[in-house]
Amino acid sequence: MRAMRSLPLTLTLLAFVAGAARAEPGPDDDKNAPKAQPSSSEFDFNLSGGAKKKASSPDSSQGGAFDFNFGGEEKKKSPEEEARAQAKQAKLERDVKVRRALLLSHQALGFATLAVFAAQLVIGQLNYQDKYGRDGTTTDDYKLTHLSLGVTTATLFGATGIVALAAPNPYPKPIKFDAALVHKLCMAVAAAGMALQIILGPITATHDGKLDQRTFAVTHLAIGYTTFAFMSAGVLSYVF
Ligand code: HEM
Ligand code: HEM
Repeated sequence: MRAMRSLPLTLTLLAFVAGAARAEPGPDDDKNAPKAQPSSSEFDFNLSGGAKKKASSPDSSQGGAFDFNFGGEEKKKSPEEEARAQAKQAKLERDVKVRRALLLSHQALGFATLAVFAAQLVIGQLNYQDKYGRDGTTTDDYKLTHLSLGVTTATLFGATGIVALAAPNPYPKPIKFDAALVHKLCMAVAAAGMALQIILGPITATHDGKLDQRTFAVTHLAIGYTTFAFMSAGVLSYVF
């Protein structure tokens, strides 16, 4: 009867011991623990804003899943491509500077040529009056001046053209009818006229005393005026 009375107490004790034994972690308990349960480290917010990063978080600097290119930027060039582009740009800038300097000299030389040519026109006309304006007599007062002015005009004209042609053209444009084209065409005709003058002047001089000398002189004179007219038109093409 005493044993019967102590049975509930014994059962209660056994149940308590068994419960306590189950609550102690065994070697396999970690493996069987549910994985979905967040561990304390997953709520380890970095409230201090320091540099510590979670190993599992996506690293945006390494092209993570959210590394979109919203700006539409170009693909990065290789160092060789970058160096080539820089060299090209530097050459372009150098050419632009050289072109500007040469065309400035070209214009200065061009105006100097025009001024000397105008003087040559006057002296050439006076030379003609002196040679053919009277009844066969001549003073030759303008002969030397005309000769030296002829050399100066031709030299300046040639230098002006060479400087223009030597100017690099970093931005080539298609041929179209504009002031530059009119200028170049006029100067091309003027250049041909100048070359003819250099040849015709001495030829005229060697025909001294011959019947055809006057014809040569008039041709030389006419080409002189025509050449000056084309050169002036070429200059004026920039004004209008
Ligand atoms: C007062 C006289 C002159 C002035 C003011 C002048 C002015 C100019 C200017 C501003 C240009 C640049 C055209 C452009 O690229 O838009 C040019 C080009 C040129 N000029 Fe003259 N020029 C003169 C005389 C001459 C003469 C005498 C010649 C020929 C002997 C000549 C031949 C040329 C040539 C060939 C170009 C083209 C250069 C190039 O585009 O690369 N110019 N000139
Ligand atoms: C810039 C271009 C010119 C050049 C390079 C040039 C060159 C010459 C040369 C080398 C002579 C020979 C000189 C001599 O008697 O020993 C000459 C003669 C002459 N030139 Fe020019 N000349 C030019 C323009 C002109 C012009 C524009 C005129 C008239 C407006 C002219 C009128 C004459 C005359 C009348 C003679 C003398 C011809 C003779 O002996 O019968 N020249 N020129």
